[in-house]
Amino acid sequence: MALVKIIAIANQKGGVGKTSTAVNLAAALAARGKEILLIDVDSQANASSALGVFVNGDQSLYAALLGQRSAEELILPTGRRHLSILPAHMDMSGVEVELTQEGSHAECMQVALSGLRKNSTFDYVFLDTPPSLGVLMTASLCAADEVLTPMQCEYLSMEGLSKILFVMEQIRANGVNSKLKHEGIIMTMYNNTNLANQVIDQVQENLPEQLYETIIPRSVRVAEAPSFGKTVLEHDPDGAAACAYKNAAKEFLRRHR
Ligand SMILES: Nc1ncnc2c1ncn2[C@@H]1O[C@H](COP(=O)(O)OP(=O)(O)OP(=O)(O)O)[C@@H](O)[C@H]1O
Ligand SMILES: [Mg+2]
Repeated sequence: MALVKIIAIANQKGGVGKTSTAVNLAAALAARGKEILLIDVDSQANASSALGVFVNGDQSLYAALLGQRSAEELILPTGRRHLSILPAHMDMSGVEVELTQEGSHAECMQVALSGLRKNSTFDYVFLDTPPSLGVLMTASLCAADEVLTPMQCEYLSMEGLSKILFVMEQIRANGVNSKLKHEGIIMTMYNNTNLANQVIDQVQENLPEQLYETIIPRSVRVAEAPSFGKTVLEHDPDGAAACAYKNAAKEFLRRHR
């Protein structure tokens, strides 16, 4: 059996396109026949609702993180071939406090996903992480093989990126996850302005290998899709954003050959 790869979609900056990328990249990979699990690690539960999945707290990732249920039994179908979800619930906002009180919170996701790692039918597991450097984000980075960072084409984005690279370095150094790799950066909400092009040039100059060639354009279709419980591939299959996410999936697979 092929080994599953766990990828955290992470950027502590809010609203940069993490959830949109997690949902639509996952959907585009599933459409290419890869077996995908999307884990919603954010108490906003945006990834869950974007796929039209709503659960109670005891049916969410929360229960697995607290060791009450196994992650495997919480996985749900999304009604889409090859795409499953382990959903979140708003209750998870309290989980950070509970986990901090319990002590070993850095490892809670590693432990929760250990069964999935050993015995998985999935090719790729994506973690849609919250916009902070809190417990859930750190725990995700400790459990992941790789990090994929969506980045908005705007001023100060590079600073946010340095911060996440620094946190990853700390996690590697303290031994919890010494093999954690920064897989890539995917630019989102691109509009053809001087500023956006300058930001891309800057990333290209500093981290050429990490930068995805595919750039996700700004498109109202991406923003609209979740309100229909749809991915942008379903909502506007031939639009520029859907095509970009399909290209990103191809590029992702090339990078993981
Ligand atoms: N390519 C795009 N074009 C237009 N709007 C977009 C695009 N990508 C994301 N958005 C919109 O921008 C907002 C933020 O996107 P998203 O929720 O994916 O970011 P996020 O990083 O997950 O946010 P948070 O940090 O709150 O979890 C949402 O309203 C989303 O619909
Ligand atoms: Mg999000």
